Amino acid sequence: MKNRFSRIGFILAAAGSAVGLGNIWKFPYITGEYGGGAFVLVYLLAIMFIGLTVFLAEAVIGQNAQANVATSFIETSKSKNENWKIAGFMIATGLILLSFYSVVLGWILSYVFSSFGTLPADAKTAGAAFDTLITKDLATQLLYHTLIAGTVIFIVLKGIKDGIEKINLILMPFLGIILIGLLMYAISLDSFSKAVSFMFVADWSKINSDALLAALGQAFFTLSLGVGTILTYSASLPKEANFVKSSIMVALVDTGIALIAGLIIFSFLFEAGAPSAAGPGLVFISLPVIFSGWGLLGKIIAISFFVALVFAGITSAVSMIEPSLMFFIERFKMTRKKATLLCGSVFYLLGIVALLSMSTTYGSSLTFFGKNAFDLMDFASSSVMMPTAAIVICLFLGYFVDKTMLQEKFTKHTSVLFFNVWYFLIRYVVPIAITILFLNQLGLI
Ligand code: PFF
Repeated sequence: MKNRFSRIGFILAAAGSAVGLGNIWKFPYITGEYGGGAFVLVYLLAIMFIGLTVFLAEAVIGQNAQANVATSFIETSKSKNENWKIAGFMIATGLILLSFYSVVLGWILSYVFSSFGTLPADAKTAGAAFDTLITKDLATQLLYHTLIAGTVIFIVLKGIKDGIEKINLILMPFLGIILIGLLMYAISLDSFSKAVSFMFVADWSKINSDALLAALGQAFFTLSLGVGTILTYSASLPKEANFVKSSIMVALVDTGIALIAGLIIFSFLFEAGAPSAAGPGLVFISLPVIFSGWGLLGKIIAISFFVALVFAGITSAVSMIEPSLMFFIERFKMTRKKATLLCGSVFYLLGIVALLSMSTTYGSSLTFFGKNAFDLMDFASSSVMMPTAAIVICLFLGYFVDKTMLQEKFTKHTSVLFFNVWYFLIRYVVPIAITILFLNQLGLI
């Protein structure tokens, strides 16, 4: 394979995949809902023991086989059993995720442009504007979904090195600069210390089983696990590269950015006297109102904030489609162009179904099992397919792969103790934790 990441390119691209709407939008709002500090601590533990474990699992499979998801499973299995191609189902998850992720990124892009105009002065106006966008303004949504999808397709068409690595090389530093700028402004506010204690002083009263499961689900989503993305990216990492160190660095960057985003957003919310539990409307309703109260500076902050979100989201979006591209290119001998056009059309069209399903006009005809198509895609991918894949990955490595081979791969870069802890987590702890998460998400426990 000539089209490979450099080591730093891999770290940037994997961090680009991990850092997305999950960090800057979802992490702050669920932290707010579950009361702050204690939830953050639980989340950090989930990242360290469960998220990083599965991340390393995907990385070792990809690095070992240097191929697409299906072939990598077959090649890594003890018996080289062809049936493991079934693990290729993961590639569908990325396409489903990408279809509505692109729609949401489209909303955010539209907020970049609308922030140049008048920002809404109160929650009612902001809520109504958002509601109009998603339920009535189909043309705007379609336009921005098309712009995002077109950008993603354009980037991945160019391949791993010239497309994905390059865009991460440009967007990730920009994202870092914008976030540092916003953090410095947040530090200058009186409410910064309140935000710090909200996020780092534990109040255990809000921690219940829902909070634990939310932390676990978020750990998976934020590290881009269970989609074959990390596996596929690792397959393009140079064979001798230290995948353990790279994986730890990606988890650290991802966690650092989530914490910084949380500090920024809670400083803003507290400064405006807004509640910490703003829910999913945080980014689209609460923040614009706060920015509107800050005059011209607020406008600049609003634009920078939404641009940061778009950048973070684009680098995640390209990583969702790459597993399917590699799969079709390698297993069906398609050209990259053909694979991109095929997978690009699938997610673009599904995205249109998702956005229509939220509209007042088409909503009822695109509602199945009591959920509109948008929510259904979210549920199927994040709550069913990602955890299923994570369980498959753990059981595969724990029971169907030669332990000595795995140990050799790990101990080239780390200690035997590290490997043993990882192996124990993969065999027992993580599958049990995910099964519980899974049953809960299906409403069975
Ligand atoms: N990690 C991304 C985020 O936090 O927004 C979401 C994501 C990207 C999930 C890529 C899955 C994936 F394959």
